Amino acid sequence: MATQQPESPSQRRKRKRALRKLVEFKGMHGLSLNQYRQDVKQLYDGPKGAMLAMASLVSLHEPLVGLMFRERKFDATRFHKILDIGAGAGQILGHLVKRTNPTAELIGCDLSHQMLRRARTRLDSDRPNYVTADLTQLPFADDSFDCITCGWVIEHLHDPRPGLREFVRVLQPGGSMLLLATEDTVAGALTSRTWKCRTYNRRELNSMCEEVGLPWQEQLYFTKLHRFFKLGGILVEATKQAHVELAPPHVCQS
Ligand SMILES: C[S@@+](CC[C@H](N)C(=O)[O-])C[C@H]1O[C@@H](n2cnc3c(N)ncnc32)[C@H](O)[C@@H]1O
Repeated sequence: MATQQPESPSQRRKRKRALRKLVEFKGMHGLSLNQYRQDVKQLYDGPKGAMLAMASLVSLHEPLVGLMFRERKFDATRFHKILDIGAGAGQILGHLVKRTNPTAELIGCDLSHQMLRRARTRLDSDRPNYVTADLTQLPFADDSFDCITCGWVIEHLHDPRPGLREFVRVLQPGGSMLLLATEDTVAGALTSRTWKCRTYNRRELNSMCEEVGLPWQEQLYFTKLHRFFKLGGILVEATKQAHVELAPPHVCQS
């Protein structure tokens, strides 16, 4: 009787890659940037957006991000003016309210005005200001912030570079960015289906951040378990280099 050979690590990797490709949301590819952006706005304005805060609690994302601030894996007490991009229901902003110097200025921005209304109600704090904006066209002057946080948002871009360049523009030289993104794992692909977005390959995202002048300083993990099982997604602290040649203003294609 033929015995079945155990799967080699490279076979396992191939099988997982194939499964991930099968599962991952592909709907954004057939759409123009504007059409896709409208879809994203509708998604978050609607009932799914209303469930976002609850989903972040159930998936433990929100408390785990809180742990990162509490344990100072990302020390937010250093900053004076922080922009939270794609603030959603205020999952990161809420931690910033608690873990920053009370005089630090906090701004939450999001494509969805409705999400920002939810964030304002949920946080019930007079500290953050809220601005409705697309992250590829931020209504802020160059070098405005010493910190940017952006959690699970750049997944909504076909190509993250126009967004990352805009982050570089509004960030002061030497300023920090906390970036969290869905990774190209099977779990990430399932998430991409729920939220109609893409996933990122860690190496590719690293090199795109380098390319725009936001080199990674440190890769972070919620817990040792997350690191071991490659769960939780890509979490990094990046810093804007002192001398970055700004790209010409980005013109969005429709
Ligand atoms: C998954 S939620 C993340 C919420 C929160 N940052 C967190 O850490 O859980 C993604 C948010 O990004 C916003 N978003 C998506 N595309 C955007 C864009 N191009 N510009 C600004 N915000 C965007 C959505 O409206 C939504 O509120």
